[in-house]
Amino acid sequence: MALSKRPYKGTRDFFPELKRGQDFLFQKMSQTAHLFGYEPYDGPLLEEVDLYRAKSGEELINDQIYSFIDRGERHVAIRPEMTPTVARMVAQIHREVTRPIRWFTIANLMRYERPQKGRLREHWQFNCDIFGAPEGQGEVEILQVAIALLNNFGANEKHFEIRLNDRKIVDYTFNQLLKIDDEKALKLYKIVDRATKVSKEALDKMIDELGLSDEQRKIFSDYLSLNSFGDLMQFLAGSEVATYLPKFVDQMEELGYLPYLKYDPTIVRGLDYYTGMVFEIFDKHPENRRALCGGGAFADLLKIFDETPLAGVGLGLGDVTLMDFLKVHNLLPSFERPSNDLFVSFQTEEAKIPALKLAKELRSNNLNVITTLEPLKFKKIFPAAEKKGARFVAIFGDKELENNSVQFKNMQTKEQTELSLSDIDKIVEYLK
Ligand code: HAM
Repeated sequence: MALSKRPYKGTRDFFPELKRGQDFLFQKMSQTAHLFGYEPYDGPLLEEVDLYRAKSGEELINDQIYSFIDRGERHVAIRPEMTPTVARMVAQIHREVTRPIRWFTIANLMRYERPQKGRLREHWQFNCDIFGAPEGQGEVEILQVAIALLNNFGANEKHFEIRLNDRKIVDYTFNQLLKIDDEKALKLYKIVDRATKVSKEALDKMIDELGLSDEQRKIFSDYLSLNSFGDLMQFLAGSEVATYLPKFVDQMEELGYLPYLKYDPTIVRGLDYYTGMVFEIFDKHPENRRALCGGGAFADLLKIFDETPLAGVGLGLGDVTLMDFLKVHNLLPSFERPSNDLFVSFQTEEAKIPALKLAKELRSNNLNVITTLEPLKFKKIFPAAEKKGARFVAIFGDKELENNSVQFKNMQTKEQTELSLSDIDKIVEYLK
């Protein structure tokens, strides 16, 4: 039987048009990270499973990880996320480098998920992490990077919102107010996480099964109905929890970011290592309800490597959900055609060498030049050049050969200009 031509389930073949689109995302990601002074890093595709077992959480380990035993009997995994890797790398060097450490990467990750809109088995994820920032300040910067990136694509507060919470607030509610044990708290965490994804009846049923007292139910329902930072401050009044928050909110307001933020008590995130702020970025478009980006603060993750942890805050933003977001809001240019500066054609065998020589010289002047490989009839030149996204066309006919010149056509304005082949600088200037 013939083999299937399809890629492995949940992965994509990046044909040039799709790859141009992905490169466009990557360029903006890298550009934005550099604007904030983040340095690029990368790590291996494989890590020991124990790295994720330590703090990434049940779902990732039990359901999503691709793992195998290697020939040396090590249990290894294809990376499902970058945070454990970056933590491992930072743990190696943080004593020797100046802090804060600001790093970014765009890495492909594999998770065994049911492929659906916004979820694949392989995706690329932009990660930005800052280590060693004062409490609250790394959070401000990471959110600013996320907003700047989406602004860079032309999106604003009409298109997306950042919903945030803090794990300490959840723990405070469960431990101090509800006074429930760890086992119930774990179950309630899952209920909070599901709260906006299931119907009211299903939510009530899950809560019933926990056997909370009327008073506990009341507190829990008060918690779930918190809807703004104002509500939250009242709820926390008199406690010592998340004391950085008022200042954080003031700062975000002064910097003009408050319209992007929303307090959301149901944001808890599935990964175990978060210890403080957690956030997710959502598209406001009703057709695209998945989170584009998630992240938060992880004060203790580096403790799995040694005794002196360094606190980190970071974000992960996926290419699949970002593409869906940009598409639904019409924020993407067309990737149908490649882009080239010049399409060099020749109509006769004699004109081939002068044409290829011109192409060679222009490439050494950093112009992207595509040439025909055999003589091309005049009427075929422009359609061919258009398919290649050329800004200009160079035509070498008999007349031009005689004059030692070349005829250029500007594909946009349709203007034609004849220039001498002996003055390359002038040609370069014209094409640039
Ligand atoms: P995460 O929430 O698991 O966080 O993933 C972050 C983003 O990656 C999601 O919001 C989504 O856009 C995208 N993503 C995740 N899984 C898939 C998938 N199967 N298919 C398509 N896109 C996906 C993390 O991974 C954290 N390590 C982020 C982080 C960095 N926290 C601190 N620093």
